Amino acid sequence: RNFKSRTACRNDINRLIAPFLAIYESLIPPEEEKGKQKQLMKLLEKLVSKEWPEARLYLYGSCANSFGVSKSDVDVCMAFEDPDVNKPEVLLKLAEILESDNLQNVQALTRARVPIVKLMDPATGISCDICINNVLAVVNTKLLRDYAKIDVRLRQLVFIVKHWAKSRGVNETYQGTLSSYAYVLMCIHFLQQRQPAILPCLQGMERTYAVTVDDIECAYFDQVDELSGFGSRNRESIAQLVWAFFNYWAYCHDYTNNVISIRTGSIISKRAKDWTRRVGNDRHLICIEDPFETSHDLGRVVDRNSIGVLREEFERAAEIMQNDPNPCVTLFEPY
Ligand code: GTP
Ligand code: MG
Repeated sequence: RNFKSRTACRNDINRLIAPFLAIYESLIPPEEEKGKQKQLMKLLEKLVSKEWPEARLYLYGSCANSFGVSKSDVDVCMAFEDPDVNKPEVLLKLAEILESDNLQNVQALTRARVPIVKLMDPATGISCDICINNVLAVVNTKLLRDYAKIDVRLRQLVFIVKHWAKSRGVNETYQGTLSSYAYVLMCIHFLQQRQPAILPCLQGMERTYAVTVDDIECAYFDQVDELSGFGSRNRESIAQLVWAFFNYWAYCHDYTNNVISIRTGSIISKRAKDWTRRVGNDRHLICIEDPFETSHDLGRVVDRNSIGVLREEFERAAEIMQNDPNPCVTLFEPY
């Protein structure tokens, strides 16, 4: 019976293509947001260069990786040549400068894991976080953006998964669920695993881009314009992919033994990474390898309790995709 109903569902899952695409389109930021971001960056560059002429500003995170929905916060990295620059000192000084230029809600969070200054620009209405020397984040932002250029289904899938995760309250690292960055890695990995593959493994190809950041070599094939037809042998629709994504994380992923790795374009074992036991606060209950900082598990924030919440949400989503008459509404119902 189960088999029958699955086949039946797959056969008409394509009725969901149009509604999913409509959701995707509605989340794309309007062109004017880019202009406002540029305006804010100009202002920040002016203010920063007066005090620190040697510093450079980079956009990173969702405003630059092409996975940002409308009205996202802007993430900015302030880069100094000096790796040992005193971050708290710079951030406190920066907060002072921003405040005297009438930026709103200025706050220096100098004790956070990633120390930042937060601000809101009243001219554009944009909220922004500024961190220091987080160059790896700038580089992984480029990797994500390059993946997005290869096949539009990645951007569509990420928008829908992020929208689901935000609606269901499972995009909150401080509550032990996953970051947006982790969800993007899950989507890339998932599309690398389709048969035929929808995405290649860029880090497994000829290295056309290479930088060394904090002693980590970051290298991959970035001439992605040459790969624009890569996924075309796979004709799966966005509706099938959303269904299969939730099905994978609900029923197929081996949480006990496996790590997903976009770096290798495959699944690797927890044993090979020595992620089998709890070390300090890292429990490795769901394992998502960072593409460059390979000792970094994006699932480290997940604890005994929140792994249950996450897996229940994956199962709920899979069940809705399978049986609900109106998945495009039910999937995103607030929790
Ligand atoms: P939204 O702000 O939710 O739209 O998504 P975002 O893409 O900006 O993601 P997020 O705020 O989670 O992270 C910002 C950036 O920090 C990511 O795009 C990565 O470049 C970088 N980053 C690197 N390591 C980590 C990590 O362990 N956790 C998080 N959250 N971000 C990381
Ligand atoms: Mg962000």
